[in-house]
This record gives sequence, structure tokens and C-alpha cells, in this order.
Amino acid sequence: MTETLPNARDELIAAARDAAGRAYAPYSGFHVGAALLLKNGDVVTGANVENASYGLTLCAETAAVAKIANEGWIGELAEVAIVGGRPDGDALLGSDPVNPCGRCRQILNEAAERSKTDILVHCASGDGTMVKTYKLSELLPAAFGPKDLGLIPD
Ligand code: THU
Repeated sequence: MTETLPNARDELIAAARDAAGRAYAPYSGFHVGAALLLKNGDVVTGANVENASYGLTLCAETAAVAKIANEGWIGELAEVAIVGGRPDGDALLGSDPVNPCGRCRQILNEAAERSKTDILVHCASGDGTMVKTYKLSELLPAAFGPKDLGLIPD
């Protein structure tokens, strides 16, 4: 477990919390926000987008990575924060940190390898009381990625 500057971490978590407010999650009622810190300091966010055909749901992290990829910034990722919980007015409920699902770990790995960074992933609880920070390599050890296809030049 590695720590980043508390202020930077907390600002990224706040951006993820704000994004969770824009989730479209009428089926699960579980709102997730992801905030991606880019190397230049910019923050790009995403929230989950559910679908009546449940399996087509897009997770918050996936939505956010799609945004940076579409902007040409997939190689600029520095750090990630994720927040999730059930909404209660403007607040989110839940004291357990939200861990990224398996598919999102793989999707984040694509951007992390392109960015040549073992990114920190801050996983925060809805109520803001708990944050767990991991390196992506802890969440997805021995990952398969673009490096395995010879696409990451030294
Ligand atoms: N969800 C995310 O957005 N990210 C994750 O990493 C875990 C799960 C969403 C998907 C679904 O809309 C809701 O949380 C409940 O599973």
C-alpha cells in the first residue's frame, strides 16, 4: 500500500464523489464515480451507466477511461479514485470502500501500461470514512496488456 499527498488524494476522491452524482443507475441503485488524474494535473471523471439489458452496464471506471482514450490521453494516466454507494439525498451511504470490478481492473491496466505507470487506485467508501489505496499491480497482478503484444516501447 502506497500513499500519495493527502490533499491530492482527497481532491481526487471528491471529484469521484461528484461524478457519482451523475450516475445513471436505476436498476442497482448503486452510484459509482471514478476520477482519473492525468499527468498534467487535469482530472477526468466518469459514472456508471446502466442498461435495461443488465449485462450491458458500463462501470464508472470504464466510462472515464473511454473519455480519456477518445481525447487521445490514454497514455497520460497518473492516478485513480473510485467512490460508490447508495444515494441518500446528496450523500452516498456505505462504509466499505468500493473496489474496482475485474473488467475495470483490466481496462485501467490498458491506460496504466500506456502511461508507463503502476498507478495508485484510491478506493473510497460512500460515506467518506474509509479509503484504501492500492497499486494497480496489487489489484491485477501479472496482468496481460499491450506490453505483451510488444506495443510498449522502452
Ligand atoms: N460498478 C462500477 O461502476 N464500477 C465497479 O468497479 C464496480 C461496479 C457499478 C456497476 C453497476 O452499475 C453498479 O456498480 C452495481 O454493480
